[in-house]
Amino acid sequence: MDARAGAAFDLADEAAYQAWRATKLARFPKTLAELVVEVRDPRALSSSERQALLERCARANMAIYMSGVAGDPDKEIPRRLGLQLGLRDLDSNYLADDDGISPLAVAQRSTRGEFIPYTNRGIKWHTDGYYNPVERTVRAVLLHCVERAESGGENELLDHEIAYIRLRDLDPRHIRALMAGDAMTIPARMEGDRIERPAQAGPVFSVDAGGFLHMRYTARAVSIEWKNDAATRAALTALEDILSAASSWVFRGRLEPGMGLVSNNVLHTRTPFTDSARHRRLIYRARYYQRVSAG
Ligand SMILES: [Fe+2]
Repeated sequence: MDARAGAAFDLADEAAYQAWRATKLARFPKTLAELVVEVRDPRALSSSERQALLERCARANMAIYMSGVAGDPDKEIPRRLGLQLGLRDLDSNYLADDDGISPLAVAQRSTRGEFIPYTNRGIKWHTDGYYNPVERTVRAVLLHCVERAESGGENELLDHEIAYIRLRDLDPRHIRALMAGDAMTIPARMEGDRIERPAQAGPVFSVDAGGFLHMRYTARAVSIEWKNDAATRAALTALEDILSAASSWVFRGRLEPGMGLVSNNVLHTRTPFTDSARHRRLIYRARYYQRVSAG
């Protein structure tokens, strides 16, 4: 492999891209089952369980674990699991509990009810924290399922590196447009006269200091302003086509109690769900500034 970090994502280095692409596609899991790792207790992984999770993340930027902790609402489960995978710094927002691990469930009556994650509605394709400022880039997301819904609440998952490959293969100009620093702008959020969050302009695709690809994206049309030029519009249309096609690159499944997803903030959706007295969906979500790593 090339020595220069991030060369694969440099439009001027076609050879590096082709070498990385070939390896990536050859190793990419063919089925959701290949992503699944059985672990006894996520709080205390064995070295082989940990290696298996890291290996899936290296291939597909995500791994799914099954464990025997179904129904246990202990927040130490996601926290300690993250720590064993190099995930230390949690992104806490004002809606998360103080500890930065958000319990995603249908809010009864609170501010949370205004935000889709705390409702039972479906959520379109996005990466987490796309509205964050660059110094709070969300590089990894951990979802841990305490309880499932009565029905629905499935996730679709797409490795953002696969989205990049599909777009670059279609037309490298799509990549150029989506790497522009002003490709997408999240308007300021106002709370009365006060700026709750300033406007955030940034790229869709970026490459970090370690040479890893990061993606910011949402398919939502509200609260986002796309650069209004032909190249950006064409790239977005191509990306929407990739995301809406029933593709073998997209994994689909539902987290059952005791299961979880570890990811380098891949693209994902959520289908609507219905709770019942017996099955009231509760997912813990932790967002981190680090990528999954052995370190
Ligand atoms: Fe999300």
